[in-house]
Amino acid sequence: MQTNNNCIVIFGASGDLTHRKLIPALYNLFKFGRLNKFSVLGVARSELNDDTFREKMREALIETEETTPETLDAFCSHLYYQAVNTSDAADYGKLVPRLEELHTKYQTNGNTLYYMSTPPSLYGVIPECLAAHGLNTEQDGWKRIIVEKPFGYDEKTAQELDVQIHRFFEEHQIYRIDHYLGKETVQNLLVLRFSNGWFEPLWNRNFIDYVEITGAESIGVEERGGYYDGSGAMRDMFQNHLLQVLAMVAMEPPAIINANSMRDEVAKVMHSLRPLTQDDVEHNLVLGQYTAAEIDGKEVKGYLQEKGVPANSRTETFMALRCEIENWRWAGVPFYVRTGKRLPARVTEIVIHFKTTPHPVFSQNAPENKLIIRIQPDEAISMRFGLKKPGAGFEAKEVSMDFRYADLADEQVLTAYERLLLDAMKGDATLFARTDAVHAAWKFVQPILDYKETGGRVHEYEAGTWGPVAAEKLIAKSGRVWRKPSGKMKKKV
Ligand code: BG6
Repeated sequence: MQTNNNCIVIFGASGDLTHRKLIPALYNLFKFGRLNKFSVLGVARSELNDDTFREKMREALIETEETTPETLDAFCSHLYYQAVNTSDAADYGKLVPRLEELHTKYQTNGNTLYYMSTPPSLYGVIPECLAAHGLNTEQDGWKRIIVEKPFGYDEKTAQELDVQIHRFFEEHQIYRIDHYLGKETVQNLLVLRFSNGWFEPLWNRNFIDYVEITGAESIGVEERGGYYDGSGAMRDMFQNHLLQVLAMVAMEPPAIINANSMRDEVAKVMHSLRPLTQDDVEHNLVLGQYTAAEIDGKEVKGYLQEKGVPANSRTETFMALRCEIENWRWAGVPFYVRTGKRLPARVTEIVIHFKTTPHPVFSQNAPENKLIIRIQPDEAISMRFGLKKPGAGFEAKEVSMDFRYADLADEQVLTAYERLLLDAMKGDATLFARTDAVHAAWKFVQPILDYKETGGRVHEYEAGTWGPVAAEKLIAKSGRVWRKPSGKMKKKV
């Protein structure tokens, strides 16, 4: 039986992700009784010790989580710290006695989960340095390694990174994390589609007109300008999170739910994306960058004025793409995908637009049938359809039947990092990206990267708007419009 008793070694322990996401996730798992025998060893260059690391993590937890002094004390007693020069293989020797001591103390049988929460430049280095001290071998307990995004910078570097990591860790030990797959609502897409008899017969080109996927954020790049400028919306959100969501919408039902069959289906979608031509990048892609504006009476900086962003940067903070999947289920159905920072709302949602009736009996403007799957916030599923407007005649109006996650008041919903950390500890890779799918995703986006590199157009849009006008024109070419969702789902009655 798989056990989640283990030592979690976090590289990059003094970084942002550790105190914002990883430690809070572990704290909550501990609080909910999901962790039993475990220790956390923070590793970074900073000269901290166990006490100072605990103090920092305690402060972060008090700020973000609901805590009690007893649970905090109990949790923090499992935290340890080891300063290591992470680019010097010899220095990793310090981890050997530390890990031995922790495995003995917590009876964790050598099971170790490494988490690389470091700059990507270390993703190839850490596995090699661990291997130099035999810390990758599984004779004495399992060893797994979580790799944070970005997994590579393009197709070539993703392949190189794979080669580097595979020299020291086998594929079954590697967990490429995409936190969107840890979101309850993203997983629910599979249950919605594959455990109900009535959606699946309609889920194809015969009944679906087009699919819209939106990953909108109202925040700008905040303190991450330096990182973001080398990444942009395409690498930061589209190549990973949104393509994974698209794969969940489009995949075939796996024969069984396990890591291999699920990920086989995801990979098949990535491979079936119609390769983008020169014409596509010129006509079906819009890149944008936000400019300064006043939002709710407050001055908001433009991207070029953000800290860490070069004044002449051409990095896109918005992208919209029309793409297609070339297989029997989806041939000819456009998928419109957009993402951006400084848009009017924080909202991630999928809209399945069904075809209209073949003949409009009641009115020329018959309501569209759509299924709105709200990934976040105000998580919900809303079915929109037409009903008769009370009164004379037969005029139809759009109404909705809604399900809201908030109504499941008794259920404890794990956050993405909680779920994924727990899965990695249990050895369940179902919700982690597999190497073939990652490469196929990079291959698909390569023409967009080339377009950017070769001076492709980046439109301006005012902060607080739904992106450049060109994005509206892109979808309007087929007579459609983007949905303009607000942060809150509005019920249609
Ligand atoms: C991260 C990106 O992977 O996802 C961020 O680097 C982005 O730029 C974030 O803000 C969005 O995640 P979520 O869960 O808030 O939608």
